[in-house]
Amino acid sequence: MRILGLETSCDETGVAIYDDEQGLLAHRLYSQVKLHADYGGVVPELASRDHVRKTIPLIKEALAEANCSKEDIDGIAFTAGPGLVGALLVGSTIGRSLAYAWGVPAVAVHHMEGHLLAPMLEDDHPEFPFLALLVSGGHSMMVNVQGIGEYEILGESVDDAAGEAFDKTAKLMGLDYPGGPLLAKLAEQGTPGRFKFPRPMTDKPGLDFSFSGLKTFAANTIHSEGDDEQTRADIAYAFQDAVIDTLGIKCRRALDQTGLKSLVIAGGVSANKQLREQLEVMMKKRNGRVYYPRPEFCTDNGAMIAYAGMQRLKAGQFESLSITAKPRWPIDTLEPLTK
Ligand code: KG4
Ligand code: ZN
Repeated sequence: MRILGLETSCDETGVAIYDDEQGLLAHRLYSQVKLHADYGGVVPELASRDHVRKTIPLIKEALAEANCSKEDIDGIAFTAGPGLVGALLVGSTIGRSLAYAWGVPAVAVHHMEGHLLAPMLEDDHPEFPFLALLVSGGHSMMVNVQGIGEYEILGESVDDAAGEAFDKTAKLMGLDYPGGPLLAKLAEQGTPGRFKFPRPMTDKPGLDFSFSGLKTFAANTIHSEGDDEQTRADIAYAFQDAVIDTLGIKCRRALDQTGLKSLVIAGGVSANKQLREQLEVMMKKRNGRVYYPRPEFCTDNGAMIAYAGMQRLKAGQFESLSITAKPRWPIDTLEPLTK
């Protein structure tokens, strides 16, 4: 069985073809980063218009790369939410309509379920159950994953998502959008120990996060210490260290609470090298394992949507003829794969 996956929830157009026996056959990605760079963040209307321009050409490219035609496709998966409503509507309109025209089922995929299952695209992938730390630009969540669609949210961000905190802090340090990876690069030149940022919400029990205070702390530090190159690098280091340490503390707590032995990290921030390394060390000490997708599948992509869509399609879960876009869609309301 073969599925076409479409991702258009934010500023990346992703298209992939996944075969349940042969694995990933093709994937194409177009990033709108340059389009939004001048504005310092994603402009929703520009994002939607660009998805309109890019999705069909990318589908053609992916079909050519996979050396298959529309007759070989057994279903179409698209991101139906959460995300920017206009951007979602492009993917769901194209996905639902194309599926109708090709006479195959359409599957509405939850974007964060896509992220959560992205490590399954790797040969060395986790088995259920596992703890998932989902850290993207829009969401930060700790999820107890018992199986596909069996998600219990143990904690989430009460304000900025982890990626959003990286981006906002990077912006006030004069870095381009999206600043997360640029801030991480700058932190490599930082002096450990010069600044110590707080570890928000770690002094009381619970698994929720709060990252917006770190951005303010960075702004105040720049104000009092200046913004020469070394100071900026030292601030970047201290900020990143605080985010990673906080995520580590919450993961340890969640693992103790649930007794789970495997940890999955996914979403854009899981591409962060320091985060991966620190969680590797932590899980080794605990005789557990950490799993994450290859860097290109940490950030938004069509492959994770094709994979998640395939699991739902095989379980007989697909859409009616209506076009679905759900800008807000809690992950714990998804159906289990097998009822
Ligand atoms: O998952 P994603 O592509 O989009 C959403 O679903 O939101 O995540 C994008 C986020 C951005 O905030 C970006 O700055 C952050 O992931 N990010 C990183 C790194 N790479 C991407 N943050 C820290 N370090 C990185 N290496
Ligand atoms: Zn995402």
